[in-house]
Amino acid sequence: MSLKLRRASHLALAFALMSAAVTTSAAAHADISFTSADADMSEHIVVFLDEDADMPAGMSSAMEQTLERALDASGFKSSFGKHQTFYGLEDLPAAVTVIGAGDESLDRRDLHDLGGHLAKVPGGGALTIYTGGLETRVAAPAAELALGYRLGAYSFETYKSKTSEAVRDIIFAGENDDVSEALLEDDYDAVADAVSMTRDLGNAPGLDIYPGSFVERVQAEARGIPNLKVTVMGKRELERAGMGAILGVGKGSVHDPRMMILEYTGAGANDAPLALVGKGITFDTGGISLKPNSGQWMMKSDLSGAAAVGGAVIAAAKRGADINLVGVMPLAENMPDGRAIRPGDVLKTYNGTTIEVMSTDAEGRLLLVDAVPYTVETYEPELVVNIATLTGSAARALSDEYGAVITRDFDLAQDMMDIGDRSGEDVWPLPLHPNHYVQIKSDIADIKSTAGNPGASIGAAVIGTFVDEDQPWVHLDIAGVDWRDSATPTAPKGHAGWGVRFLDQLIRDYEEK
Ligand code: BES
Ligand code: MN
Ligand code: ZN
Repeated sequence: MSLKLRRASHLALAFALMSAAVTTSAAAHADISFTSADADMSEHIVVFLDEDADMPAGMSSAMEQTLERALDASGFKSSFGKHQTFYGLEDLPAAVTVIGAGDESLDRRDLHDLGGHLAKVPGGGALTIYTGGLETRVAAPAAELALGYRLGAYSFETYKSKTSEAVRDIIFAGENDDVSEALLEDDYDAVADAVSMTRDLGNAPGLDIYPGSFVERVQAEARGIPNLKVTVMGKRELERAGMGAILGVGKGSVHDPRMMILEYTGAGANDAPLALVGKGITFDTGGISLKPNSGQWMMKSDLSGAAAVGGAVIAAAKRGADINLVGVMPLAENMPDGRAIRPGDVLKTYNGTTIEVMSTDAEGRLLLVDAVPYTVETYEPELVVNIATLTGSAARALSDEYGAVITRDFDLAQDMMDIGDRSGEDVWPLPLHPNHYVQIKSDIADIKSTAGNPGASIGAAVIGTFVDEDQPWVHLDIAGVDWRDSATPTAPKGHAGWGVRFLDQLIRDYEEK
């Protein structure tokens, strides 16, 4: 074996071990702290520019004038999120970064974006960020900025042979620094950690993430959290429960399917839980209905729904949310094989309904038609939300900017749009017509898995067939938003971790109910 080859196999082994050992690649490359508004300036300071923003206490009017002259000379326009760094200005710290903070209407979501911009401020030394003035518009601006910073600073480095170990000191200087510190430590850090876990799972190759290793990773993250119970159903348990659809999808893979369940009890035993069910296809080749080559690699992220469910439940449990929650993650790998299911096969689902598989590439709904009725029957939830990278059709309709929400109750759809707006993860409704149910009648079984020109609504109708009219139910099709080809302030290129913040906001709203 040549030296080069040996090195390569060492790396392969290292990756296998890394995923087995369950690493976090999350960019914990910053040490975030909070201090009072009159903190001394470090060698690199950040100030926000808008009519309300206060300059640092230690900044004399002469220094302010120098900065203003530099701003004028550079033609800097302080529109929202724009930033520029000035070096070597007389009497000022070695580097001064200015960021446009927009106008009066600044909200939490805007601060998350500004925090994401902070993560792109050049240099590696300590950064002191003055938040003076922003607190008149958002209660704890430094905590919101810190959350945005963490989201924006994420990078997936598990498979890089060389990674930077450098840690940057991020110091927020402003009023109520203790409030912001507590909010980050007791709450927002858990959200950022959850988004990182979800992104890690979506970015990691199918070689390393399969049902068993997905479970290990989420288990590691869930360990030791009070009131959080983890259950994993293996092939045997799925067989005993009669989940023929999940088992069917997994038949072509060397990796058996699983169903992972997180139960968090943060409220009274009689409180109906909020239930979240996420599609967890660890790789989607399409099965016998094989997908075309181009872009197939991206199907390593077809577990986005399950990963978001795992992340959101763990984040809520970590902060001790006052709510009962159930997170259900059906997991399988969709592979073509001699043992794989065929188009035309009929599978018997958990509730006894039979389904004719028209395309083995419509596998996500097969996981959900077992998992959703199981969840409703077992937990009698107040609301069941399923989240899945279900159809290319949703992605084409709404592109990268909106997740699709489909529900029978338009009020619920509007609630979801409002939650999307506040969480920074937007959704927009797509329809579900009575005829969508008619279209999926099968000649030989109870229903078929696709029909006609199959789109997002047909996918929803297949799942809806398994949910009673009086059960509040929301379907989220996130095929377009889970993966980004270009970065936003709070999400890098690649897996977005979409859904953690949406579901987190949903959970917070239900805590208040
Ligand atoms: N995982 C795919 C959907 C998908 C497509 C996600 C693009 C992300 C990006 C899903 O399993 C699938 O293959 N859906 C088919 C359904 C069809 C065969 C009814 C689709 O949308 O083409
Ligand atoms: Mn598919
Ligand atoms: Zn899929």
